[in-house]
Amino acid sequence: MTKLFQMREDESVEELLKQKEMAQLGQILREGGLVAFPTETVYGLGANAFDAEAGKKIYRAKGRPSDNPLIVHISKVSMLAQVAREIDEEAKALIEAFFPGPLTLIVKKSENIPDEITAGLDTVAVRMPSNKIARALIESAGVPIAAPSANLSGRPSPTHYKYVVEDLDGRVDAIICSQDSEIGIESTILDISEKPWKILRPGAIGPSRLKAFCKNLRYDTAVKGEVPKAPGMKYRHYCPDAEVQIIPADLDAKALDALIHEYETQGRRVLLVEEQSATVLAREIFKIFRMADERGYDLVLVREVKGDDMSDAVMNRIHKAAQ
Ligand code: TXA
Ligand code: MG
Repeated sequence: MTKLFQMREDESVEELLKQKEMAQLGQILREGGLVAFPTETVYGLGANAFDAEAGKKIYRAKGRPSDNPLIVHISKVSMLAQVAREIDEEAKALIEAFFPGPLTLIVKKSENIPDEITAGLDTVAVRMPSNKIARALIESAGVPIAAPSANLSGRPSPTHYKYVVEDLDGRVDAIICSQDSEIGIESTILDISEKPWKILRPGAIGPSRLKAFCKNLRYDTAVKGEVPKAPGMKYRHYCPDAEVQIIPADLDAKALDALIHEYETQGRRVLLVEEQSATVLAREIFKIFRMADERGYDLVLVREVKGDDMSDAVMNRIHKAAQ
Protein backbone atom coordinates (compact mmCIF):
# COMPACT_ATOMS: atom_id res chain seq x y z
CA MET A 1 0.00 0.00 0.00
CA THR A 2 1.29 3.43 -0.95
CA LYS A 3 0.30 6.29 1.36
CA LEU A 4 -0.26 9.67 -0.30
CA PHE A 5 0.63 12.85 1.62
CA GLN A 6 -0.58 16.29 0.45
CA MET A 7 1.97 18.99 1.31
CA ARG A 8 2.63 22.57 0.17
CA GLU A 9 6.02 24.21 0.01
CA ASP A 10 4.72 27.45 1.52
CA GLU A 11 6.37 27.09 4.91
CA SER A 12 9.96 27.14 6.15
CA VAL A 13 11.94 23.92 6.66
CA GLU A 14 11.56 24.47 10.43
CA GLU A 15 7.76 24.76 10.22
CA LEU A 16 7.52 21.74 7.91
CA LEU A 17 9.59 19.73 10.38
CA LYS A 18 6.99 20.33 13.11
CA GLN A 19 4.29 18.46 11.14
CA LYS A 20 3.56 14.96 12.39
CA GLU A 21 3.38 13.72 8.77
CA MET A 22 6.99 14.81 8.28
CA ALA A 23 8.05 12.81 11.35
CA GLN A 24 6.19 9.79 9.96
CA LEU A 25 7.87 10.12 6.54
CA GLY A 26 11.33 10.49 8.12
CA GLN A 27 10.71 7.30 10.06
CA ILE A 28 9.69 5.36 6.93
CA LEU A 29 13.01 6.35 5.35
CA ARG A 30 15.09 5.59 8.44
CA GLU A 31 13.51 2.14 8.61
CA GLY A 32 14.45 1.30 5.01
CA GLY A 33 11.26 2.34 3.18
CA LEU A 34 10.82 4.34 -0.05
CA VAL A 35 9.34 7.86 -0.17
CA ALA A 36 8.80 9.88 -3.36
CA PHE A 37 9.18 13.63 -2.82
CA PRO A 38 9.27 16.93 -4.72
CA THR A 39 12.48 18.74 -5.61
CA GLU A 40 12.98 21.94 -7.64
CA THR A 41 14.16 19.90 -10.65
CA VAL A 42 11.90 16.79 -10.83
CA TYR A 43 10.28 14.50 -8.24
CA GLY A 44 12.71 12.03 -6.63
CA LEU A 45 12.31 8.52 -5.19
CA GLY A 46 14.19 8.44 -1.87
CA ALA A 47 15.79 5.79 0.34
CA ASN A 48 18.31 5.89 3.20
CA ALA A 49 21.69 6.27 1.44
CA PHE A 50 23.47 4.26 4.17
CA ASP A 51 21.19 1.27 3.68
CA ALA A 52 22.16 -1.16 0.89
CA GLU A 53 18.85 -3.06 1.07
CA ALA A 54 16.83 0.17 0.80
CA GLY A 55 18.98 1.12 -2.21
CA LYS A 56 18.13 -2.17 -3.91
CA LYS A 57 14.43 -1.46 -3.38
CA ILE A 58 14.79 1.71 -5.48
CA TYR A 59 16.15 -0.28 -8.43
CA ARG A 60 13.32 -2.80 -8.13
CA ALA A 61 10.57 -0.17 -7.81
CA LYS A 62 11.80 1.72 -10.90
CA GLY A 63 12.91 -1.27 -12.95
CA ARG A 64 16.28 0.50 -13.14
CA PRO A 65 19.46 -1.26 -14.35
CA SER A 66 21.72 -1.82 -11.35
CA ASP A 67 24.80 -0.34 -13.07
CA ASN A 68 23.21 3.13 -12.95
CA PRO A 69 24.23 4.88 -9.69
CA LEU A 70 21.99 7.15 -7.59
CA ILE A 71 22.34 10.77 -6.49
CA VAL A 72 22.67 11.25 -2.71
CA HIS A 73 20.69 14.21 -1.39
CA ILE A 74 21.73 16.20 1.69
CA SER A 75 19.88 18.90 3.65
CA LYS A 76 22.89 20.88 4.88
CA VAL A 77 26.54 21.25 3.92
CA SER A 78 27.70 19.63 7.17
CA MET A 79 26.14 16.34 5.96
CA LEU A 80 28.63 16.20 3.09
CA ALA A 81 31.35 14.77 5.34
CA GLN A 82 29.21 11.64 5.85
CA VAL A 83 28.97 11.08 2.09
CA ALA A 84 32.21 12.30 0.51
CA ARG A 85 35.94 12.53 1.12
CA GLU A 86 38.70 14.83 -0.14
CA ILE A 87 36.62 18.00 -0.57
CA ASP A 88 39.27 20.62 -1.40
CA GLU A 89 39.12 24.44 -1.33
CA GLU A 90 38.04 24.72 -4.97
CA ALA A 91 35.16 22.32 -4.36
CA LYS A 92 34.18 24.24 -1.23
CA ALA A 93 33.87 27.47 -3.22
CA LEU A 94 31.56 25.72 -5.68
CA ILE A 95 29.45 24.33 -2.85
CA GLU A 96 29.26 27.73 -1.19
CA ALA A 97 28.03 29.26 -4.45
CA PHE A 98 25.54 26.64 -5.67
CA PHE A 99 24.22 24.61 -2.71
CA PRO A 100 21.30 24.40 -2.25
CA GLY A 101 20.25 24.23 -5.90
CA PRO A 102 20.09 22.20 -9.11
CA LEU A 103 23.78 21.17 -9.21
CA THR A 104 25.00 17.63 -8.55
CA LEU A 105 28.70 17.09 -7.86
CA ILE A 106 30.58 13.85 -8.48
CA VAL A 107 33.15 13.47 -5.69
CA LYS A 108 35.17 10.69 -4.04
CA LYS A 109 32.84 8.62 -1.89
CA SER A 110 33.00 7.96 1.83
CA GLU A 111 33.06 4.38 3.14
CA ASN A 112 29.60 4.95 4.66
CA ILE A 113 27.97 4.77 1.25
CA PRO A 114 27.40 1.18 0.11
CA ASP A 115 28.26 -0.05 -3.39
CA GLU A 116 24.55 -0.62 -4.10
CA ILE A 117 24.06 3.17 -4.12
CA THR A 118 27.04 4.04 -6.35
CA ALA A 119 26.94 0.91 -8.55
CA GLY A 120 30.36 -0.01 -7.22
CA LEU A 121 32.07 3.26 -8.25
CA ASP A 122 34.59 4.95 -5.96
CA THR A 123 32.77 8.24 -6.54
CA VAL A 124 29.36 9.44 -5.41
CA ALA A 125 26.92 11.98 -6.84
CA VAL A 126 25.74 14.49 -4.22
CA ARG A 127 23.31 17.37 -4.29
CA MET A 128 21.48 19.63 -1.86
CA PRO A 129 18.00 20.42 -3.21
CA SER A 130 16.57 23.90 -2.64
CA ASN A 131 13.00 22.56 -2.33
CA LYS A 132 12.00 22.99 1.34
CA ILE A 133 9.90 19.83 1.56
CA ALA A 134 12.87 17.85 0.24
CA ARG A 135 15.21 19.38 2.83
CA ALA A 136 12.72 18.94 5.69
CA LEU A 137 12.30 15.29 4.68
CA ILE A 138 16.07 14.66 4.72
CA GLU A 139 16.34 16.46 8.07
CA SER A 140 13.50 14.40 9.46
CA ALA A 141 15.10 11.15 8.28
CA GLY A 142 18.41 12.28 9.81
CA VAL A 143 20.37 10.50 7.07
CA PRO A 144 21.39 11.41 3.50
CA ILE A 145 18.79 10.25 0.97
CA ALA A 146 19.64 8.46 -2.26
CA ALA A 147 17.13 9.44 -4.94
CA PRO A 148 16.81 8.98 -8.68
CA SER A 149 13.94 10.63 -10.54
CA ALA A 150 10.61 9.13 -9.42
CA ASN A 151 9.56 7.58 -12.74
CA LEU A 152 9.61 4.04 -14.05
CA SER A 153 12.90 3.52 -15.86
CA GLY A 154 12.77 4.85 -19.43
CA ARG A 155 9.74 7.12 -18.84
CA PRO A 156 10.00 10.92 -18.75
CA SER A 157 10.97 12.30 -15.33
CA PRO A 158 7.88 13.35 -13.32
CA THR A 159 7.36 17.08 -12.82
CA HIS A 160 3.84 16.68 -11.39
CA TYR A 161 2.85 14.31 -8.59
CA LYS A 162 0.14 12.66 -10.68
CA TYR A 163 2.88 11.12 -12.84
CA VAL A 164 4.65 9.79 -9.75
CA VAL A 165 1.38 8.17 -8.68
CA GLU A 166 0.87 6.83 -12.20
CA ASP A 167 4.32 5.19 -12.29
CA LEU A 168 4.92 4.18 -8.66
CA ASP A 169 1.60 3.69 -6.84
CA GLY A 170 1.75 0.27 -5.17
CA ARG A 171 5.54 0.07 -5.59
CA VAL A 172 6.67 2.50 -2.85
CA ASP A 173 5.69 3.24 0.76
CA ALA A 174 4.73 6.90 0.40
CA ILE A 175 4.39 9.70 -2.14
CA ILE A 176 4.43 13.39 -1.20
CA CYS A 177 1.98 15.20 -3.48
CA SER A 178 3.11 18.83 -3.80
CA GLN A 179 3.45 21.57 -6.40
CA ASP A 180 4.81 21.25 -9.95
CA SER A 181 8.59 21.13 -10.22
CA GLU A 182 9.93 24.66 -10.67
CA ILE A 183 12.72 23.86 -13.15
CA GLY A 184 11.34 20.75 -14.82
CA ILE A 185 14.57 19.05 -15.97
CA GLU A 186 17.12 17.22 -13.84
CA SER A 187 20.13 18.84 -12.16
CA THR A 188 23.39 19.66 -13.88
CA ILE A 189 25.97 16.94 -13.12
CA LEU A 190 29.54 18.21 -12.69
CA ASP A 191 32.34 15.71 -12.15
CA ILE A 192 34.95 17.28 -9.86
CA SER A 193 36.49 13.95 -8.79
CA GLU A 194 39.36 14.52 -11.24
CA LYS A 195 40.79 17.34 -13.33
CA PRO A 196 39.71 18.76 -15.70
CA TRP A 197 36.21 19.10 -14.25
CA LYS A 198 33.55 17.87 -16.64
CA ILE A 199 29.85 18.48 -17.11
CA LEU A 200 28.33 15.01 -17.49
CA ARG A 201 24.73 16.20 -17.82
CA PRO A 202 23.68 19.78 -18.70
CA GLY A 203 21.07 21.46 -16.49
CA ALA A 204 19.81 24.82 -15.27
CA ILE A 205 23.27 25.76 -13.91
CA GLY A 206 25.38 25.93 -17.05
CA PRO A 207 28.95 26.72 -18.14
CA SER A 208 28.39 30.49 -18.13
CA ARG A 209 27.83 30.39 -14.35
CA LEU A 210 30.27 27.57 -13.61
CA LYS A 211 33.26 28.90 -15.49
CA ALA A 212 34.03 31.48 -12.80
CA PHE A 213 34.85 28.50 -10.56
CA CYS A 214 36.81 26.33 -12.97
CA LYS A 215 39.24 27.34 -15.66
CA ASN A 216 39.16 24.19 -17.77
CA LEU A 217 35.54 23.19 -17.89
CA ARG A 218 34.72 20.43 -20.42
CA TYR A 219 31.66 18.58 -21.59
CA ASP A 220 32.03 14.80 -21.34
CA THR A 221 32.23 13.83 -24.99
CA ALA A 222 30.70 10.34 -24.58
CA VAL A 223 31.27 9.76 -28.30
CA LYS A 224 30.05 6.53 -29.84
CA GLY A 225 31.81 3.48 -28.50
CA GLU A 226 33.13 5.36 -25.49
CA VAL A 227 31.59 4.62 -22.09
CA PRO A 228 29.83 7.75 -20.83
CA LYS A 229 31.00 8.76 -17.35
CA ALA A 230 27.48 9.17 -15.99
CA PRO A 231 26.32 5.61 -16.60
CA GLY A 232 22.71 6.80 -16.83
CA MET A 233 23.47 8.82 -19.95
CA LYS A 234 23.81 5.68 -22.06
CA TYR A 235 20.23 4.55 -21.56
CA ARG A 236 17.34 5.67 -23.74
CA HIS A 237 15.64 8.24 -21.59
CA TYR A 238 12.88 10.71 -21.33
CA CYS A 239 10.92 9.16 -24.14
CA PRO A 240 7.20 9.17 -24.73
CA ASP A 241 5.68 6.37 -26.82
CA ALA A 242 5.09 8.97 -29.54
CA GLU A 243 7.98 9.72 -31.88
CA VAL A 244 9.79 12.99 -31.15
CA GLN A 245 11.28 15.13 -33.91
CA ILE A 246 13.19 18.40 -33.65
CA ILE A 247 12.27 21.28 -35.96
CA PRO A 248 15.31 23.49 -36.68
CA ALA A 249 14.99 27.00 -35.21
CA ASP A 250 15.29 28.58 -38.68
CA LEU A 251 12.73 26.44 -40.55
CA ASP A 252 10.15 28.90 -41.93
CA ALA A 253 6.45 28.64 -41.18
CA LYS A 254 5.53 27.61 -44.73
CA ALA A 255 7.93 24.68 -44.77
CA LEU A 256 6.70 23.62 -41.32
CA ASP A 257 3.05 23.72 -42.46
CA ALA A 258 3.95 21.58 -45.47
CA LEU A 259 5.73 19.08 -43.23
CA ILE A 260 2.81 18.81 -40.81
CA HIS A 261 0.40 18.44 -43.73
CA GLU A 262 2.51 15.60 -45.14
CA TYR A 263 2.51 13.73 -41.80
CA GLU A 264 -1.21 14.26 -41.35
CA THR A 265 -2.02 12.90 -44.80
CA GLN A 266 -0.11 9.78 -43.72
CA GLY A 267 -2.74 9.53 -40.96
CA ARG A 268 -0.43 10.54 -38.11
CA ARG A 269 -1.63 12.71 -35.22
CA VAL A 270 0.89 15.53 -34.85
CA LEU A 271 1.49 17.71 -31.77
CA LEU A 272 3.48 20.88 -32.49
CA VAL A 273 5.43 22.49 -29.63
CA GLU A 274 6.72 25.98 -30.40
CA GLU A 275 7.74 27.48 -27.06
CA GLN A 276 10.37 30.19 -27.40
CA SER A 277 11.41 30.48 -23.78
CA ALA A 278 13.86 27.73 -22.84
CA THR A 279 12.89 28.16 -19.17
CA VAL A 280 9.22 27.55 -19.93
CA LEU A 281 10.03 24.71 -22.33
CA ALA A 282 12.14 23.02 -19.61
CA ARG A 283 9.28 23.33 -17.11
CA GLU A 284 6.76 21.87 -19.56
CA ILE A 285 8.59 19.35 -21.76
CA PHE A 286 8.21 16.17 -19.70
CA LYS A 287 4.55 17.01 -19.06
CA ILE A 288 4.05 17.53 -22.79
CA PHE A 289 5.62 14.13 -23.51
CA ARG A 290 3.32 12.38 -21.05
CA MET A 291 0.27 14.32 -22.23
CA ALA A 292 1.07 13.41 -25.86
CA ASP A 293 0.77 9.72 -24.95
CA GLU A 294 -2.38 10.24 -22.86
CA ARG A 295 -4.08 11.95 -25.80
CA GLY A 296 -2.88 9.50 -28.43
CA TYR A 297 -0.51 11.65 -30.51
CA ASP A 298 1.87 9.71 -32.79
CA LEU A 299 4.39 12.45 -33.38
CA VAL A 300 5.63 15.40 -31.30
CA LEU A 301 7.40 18.14 -33.26
CA VAL A 302 9.44 20.43 -31.02
CA ARG A 303 10.86 23.71 -32.33
CA GLU A 304 14.54 23.98 -31.39
CA VAL A 305 15.57 26.68 -28.87
CA LYS A 306 19.15 27.94 -28.74
CA GLY A 307 21.49 30.62 -27.52
CA ASP A 308 21.87 30.04 -23.78
CA ASP A 309 22.69 27.37 -21.17
CA MET A 310 19.04 26.54 -20.45
CA SER A 311 18.43 25.97 -24.16
CA ASP A 312 21.37 23.53 -24.31
CA ALA A 313 20.06 21.70 -21.25
CA VAL A 314 16.51 21.28 -22.47
CA MET A 315 17.63 20.40 -26.02
CA ASN A 316 19.85 17.66 -24.52
CA ARG A 317 16.69 15.99 -23.15
CA ILE A 318 14.74 16.49 -26.38
CA HIS A 319 17.61 15.07 -28.48
CA LYS A 320 17.64 11.98 -26.27
CA ALA A 321 13.87 11.56 -26.66
CA ALA A 322 14.26 11.99 -30.44
CA GLN A 323 16.96 9.30 -30.82
O1 TXA B 1 17.64 16.68 -10.50
C1 TXA B 1 18.06 15.56 -10.25
O2 TXA B 1 19.26 15.29 -10.30
C2 TXA B 1 17.02 14.47 -9.88
C3 TXA B 1 16.42 14.86 -8.53
C4 TXA B 1 15.52 13.80 -7.97
O3 TXA B 1 17.43 15.21 -7.63
N1 TXA B 1 17.63 13.18 -9.85
C5 TXA B 1 18.03 12.51 -10.96
O4 TXA B 1 18.50 11.23 -10.72
O5 TXA B 1 17.96 12.97 -12.07
P1 TXA B 1 18.68 10.13 -11.86
O6 TXA B 1 18.95 8.88 -11.14
O7 TXA B 1 17.51 10.14 -12.75
O8 TXA B 1 19.97 10.55 -12.60
C6 TXA B 1 21.23 10.40 -11.95
C7 TXA B 1 22.36 10.48 -12.94
C8 TXA B 1 22.50 9.24 -13.78
O9 TXA B 1 22.77 9.60 -15.13
C9 TXA B 1 23.70 8.54 -13.14
O10 TXA B 1 24.39 7.71 -14.03
C10 TXA B 1 24.52 9.72 -12.67
O11 TXA B 1 23.57 10.62 -12.20
N2 TXA B 1 25.44 9.37 -11.57
C11 TXA B 1 25.14 9.01 -10.31
N3 TXA B 1 26.26 8.73 -9.59
C12 TXA B 1 27.31 8.90 -10.41
C13 TXA B 1 28.72 8.77 -10.29
N4 TXA B 1 29.29 8.39 -9.15
N5 TXA B 1 29.48 9.04 -11.37
C14 TXA B 1 28.93 9.43 -12.54
N6 TXA B 1 27.59 9.59 -12.73
C15 TXA B 1 26.79 9.33 -11.70
MG1 MG C 1 16.12 9.67 -14.14
